[in-house]
Amino acid sequence: MDKNKILVPLSNNSYEVIIKQGLINSIGEELTRIGINNNRKILIVSNKEISTLFGSKLLNNLKKYNFNAEIFNIKAGESHKNLASLSEIFNAAFEVGLDRNSLIIALGGGIVGDVTGFAAATWLRGIEYIQIPTTLLSMVDSSVGGKTAVNHPKGKNLIGAFYQPKAVFIDPETLITLPTREFKAGMAEVIKYGVIKDKSLFEYLENEKNRNKIINLENESLIKIINKSIKTKARIVSEDEKEIGIRAILNYGHSFGHVIENLCGYGEYLHGEAISIGMKIAGDIATEKNLWSKEHSLRQDHLIESYGLPTQTPKIKKNEVMKILMGDKKVRNGKMRFILPVELGEVDIFNDINETQFLKYFD
Ligand code: GLY
Repeated sequence: MDKNKILVPLSNNSYEVIIKQGLINSIGEELTRIGINNNRKILIVSNKEISTLFGSKLLNNLKKYNFNAEIFNIKAGESHKNLASLSEIFNAAFEVGLDRNSLIIALGGGIVGDVTGFAAATWLRGIEYIQIPTTLLSMVDSSVGGKTAVNHPKGKNLIGAFYQPKAVFIDPETLITLPTREFKAGMAEVIKYGVIKDKSLFEYLENEKNRNKIINLENESLIKIINKSIKTKARIVSEDEKEIGIRAILNYGHSFGHVIENLCGYGEYLHGEAISIGMKIAGDIATEKNLWSKEHSLRQDHLIESYGLPTQTPKIKKNEVMKILMGDKKVRNGKMRFILPVELGEVDIFNDINETQFLKYFD
């Protein structure tokens, strides 16, 4: 298979992730190639900022291939990842007459992708959808694997479905307009893959020359890190699509990350920034339990910091931390599960970590 075409092999509905510079200008061709007929109506869901940047390019190209497509914008930001935005998408779906044969395209970052995926999962009991992620974080994580959701006032992603896209099209060129802070936040997920499964990616990211190329958005290195990240994700998802077991390792750094996002207010820390701190705490706990060497732990923290990401835990009260952790979806039968590193490129799932071992990182 082409180097930049990654298959997500599933028992039903396997799909391809295509990574190619300039791909946003040939989506009509790609849809045709994967067998989507141009008699199918398309609703593109995006937000104002992203559709201003890429919407007309996408529409023009689809028109060239005689696709009938319209764009609908939802409001940007985590506070709009909710049932109200979902309902707005359904209204738009009704207005444009999306039927069972229609297609939805998510054009944007993780929020657009998650909400749109859930709309596709539930409109008429499920219609096909395509992911076109435009942020690094959504390219390497949320657009692949079929986790779709909206938030509930009581917690993040509490309402959702596992619903796989028909394909994922990634154009690294869209990262040029991504704010630097968001790009760095996406790097946290890339580093995560290095720690949990891919030592060679970890070492590649550590190299100063490579880091400069990545930070300067040099195409070849971007494709390399996106490709390597997605390959790991595809392998894990194909083994455990519904997160019965091993898929949980993709949540490395996320338990404490969610605590920080939740208690500091969404937006204060970007998701990637919060999980950077979460990875640092997980590394420290693992070192203290003699699961991981101090050297590896320091290398991880240095790598995180070298991409401009935080490792300092904000001031948060212990009882608040407990409340959030107990409500987290990672709790099974009342026990908290933690993903901790045991090697460089290897993590394991632990449910024997007691409260004192992790609460000491908080006030
Ligand atoms: N973002 C974690 C997962 O897809 O399972």
